[in-house]
Amino acid sequence: MGAASVPFRGYSLQKQNTLTKTSADGQDSPVFRFVQINDLHIQNDRSRYVSASSNRVGPTYKGANDRAFWLLQSLKNDAFFNGIDFVLGIGDLVHGQQLEAIKYDLDFFATHFYKDFPVPLYPAIGNHEIVQREGDPVYEAPYKELFGKDKVNYSFLHKGVHFIVINNAGSHSVNDKEILNFRLASLERMLNEHPDKPKIVCCHIPLIPIRQNEVLAKSFGFSSYFTKETELLDLVEKYKVLAVLSGHLHISGMIIKNSVHHIAISGSASYPHDMALYTVYKDRIDAALFRVPSDLLVPSTNIHGAARFGLDYTDNLHQDYTTYIMGQMSERYFSIPLK
Ligand SMILES: [Fe+2]
Ligand SMILES: [Fe+2]
Repeated sequence: MGAASVPFRGYSLQKQNTLTKTSADGQDSPVFRFVQINDLHIQNDRSRYVSASSNRVGPTYKGANDRAFWLLQSLKNDAFFNGIDFVLGIGDLVHGQQLEAIKYDLDFFATHFYKDFPVPLYPAIGNHEIVQREGDPVYEAPYKELFGKDKVNYSFLHKGVHFIVINNAGSHSVNDKEILNFRLASLERMLNEHPDKPKIVCCHIPLIPIRQNEVLAKSFGFSSYFTKETELLDLVEKYKVLAVLSGHLHISGMIIKNSVHHIAISGSASYPHDMALYTVYKDRIDAALFRVPSDLLVPSTNIHGAARFGLDYTDNLHQDYTTYIMGQMSERYFSIPLK
């Protein structure tokens, strides 16, 4: 697809400015805002025809590219977001699936999405960028070529908040102790960098199940619905990390466990097509999930429901399918206290 044929319709959206609260202590001026995106599953048209053995990649989620381009245009116009400092892209930015397709997709992503990105984009590796081959230099090469060798396990400090990005995209697939120890040691090293700063960890696969365990195992359908290596969670709790931001599940939810906010966002490719806006104040971080415009919603892309299984999954805290995939209101709008 050439640049001229990139689809975009000019939406006129009200800027999102609903998060400002009045507080008695006057701490209601935002310090900064950032956006979380993940699971865009952008695909180059030619990738769907890539095949290894009899396994053809096939098309990505219906309308995935359109939704990604809507996001890009909204960022470029500073529409909707009301000024953000950067975007976290927490994995599965492209559909990939096979090494050849990953190269095509990242090339398309670079030309039509990343090149025009109006603010810094901090990426994390998702399983679709490397086909679960965490630590494999051949499979990680296309990602590193685009974003840089240093964008695998890395951290940055922004206006007093320490962001730590780790690659856990091989959980449940990689058993090599050396690779898993490298991941763990990288996390611990970064957790020690700024002991006094509030910390946010970004990793594609959530560290805990975001829904009732046995239900999520079925509705996701892959064993990687949370990170198998529990040492990561132990470290996150030990170092009193504020929040863990993830994707991968293609549903949205938030659970507070041992004072850590575990946040998973569905991402734009599949229904409910959520992304997240975070507004950082002196005393808290306000989170608000947002979606693409209604004419870009494609309910059949929901991977936890009737289109895939013939039934819509629910669990003990989400007793209808809408809240199962989107989360309760308290999982979509919440505050994380900054201690
Ligand atoms: Fe995904
Ligand atoms: Fe994923």
